[in-house]
Amino acid sequence: MSTPIIEASAITKTFPGRRGGQPFHALRNVSSKLFEGEILGLVGESGSGKTTLSRIMIGIETATTGEVSFQGRPVQSRADWKALRRDVQYVFQDPFTALCPTMRIGAALAEPLAIHRLCPASERPERVARMLEMIGLGPEMARRLPAQLSGGQRQRVSLARALMLEPRVLICDEIVSGLDVSVQAQVLALLVELQRKLGLSLIFISHDLRVIRYLCDRVQVMLLGQIVEEGPAAQVFDAPENDYTRALLAAIPDRDRLPVSESA
Ligand SMILES: Nc1ncnc2c1ncn2[C@@H]1O[C@H](COP(=O)(O)OP(=O)(O)OP(=O)(O)O)[C@@H](O)[C@H]1O
Ligand SMILES: [Mg+2]
Repeated sequence: MSTPIIEASAITKTFPGRRGGQPFHALRNVSSKLFEGEILGLVGESGSGKTTLSRIMIGIETATTGEVSFQGRPVQSRADWKALRRDVQYVFQDPFTALCPTMRIGAALAEPLAIHRLCPASERPERVARMLEMIGLGPEMARRLPAQLSGGQRQRVSLARALMLEPRVLICDEIVSGLDVSVQAQVLALLVELQRKLGLSLIFISHDLRVIRYLCDRVQVMLLGQIVEEGPAAQVFDAPENDYTRALLAAIPDRDRLPVSESA
């Protein structure tokens, strides 16, 4: 089998207890692999450790024990992490906190290019315009502030900001959870289109099984800081082996079992 593009091996994460309380084991021996071009879904109830695992995979959080590898090599030094963070971008759940409220959209999209000195300043407006077009927003959006956009437009902009650096991997943490169903479907369709067009590998975190089923090739189900089931999406959804996965699936009302594209 090919080498995973990014891999977390035997990760544990223990947060110190507050005011002398018991330490909290947020992750217990969790391993995860993302292969080139695939969409991996991380699903599980609130507090199961999805965000913590993904933050460890990009070095925002450090693991208590365990190791992250990128393109087959352990990520250790600051330079290793810096290289990883250019190629692996993170899209947050709430684009309101991800986007600076006083920065116009054009400037927000140009900023990663400036930080990483990817192209001359004179080329930035052109690259911003191309990106706006790619995510289906008009060029006039460049002059707007985040508060002047709808929730769906804001989420497209945070996706665009992550894509400005032409990453190879995108980690999307609950990016459609705050949107209503029809807008969710549009953002997901855009994500699939971009993933194919740009050859991205994707980790998609959600507690919404319908979304995961629609989108993902492979799924890992998390519960209380552990992975309780994993496999190809069709297998996990059609023949779940774990009681918790079954309970999650049973909790979806029947009418909502359709893939998002059909139900929207
Ligand atoms: N900095 C921290 N200090 C202490 N505990 C933390 C910290 N960050 C996360 N936790 C705890 O670790 C557990 C896992 O949190 P995490 O955010 O990874 O869950 P999640 O699966 O992403 O949940 P959600 O679906 O609500 O986003 C939670 O119980 C959380 O309270
Ligand atoms: Mg989370």
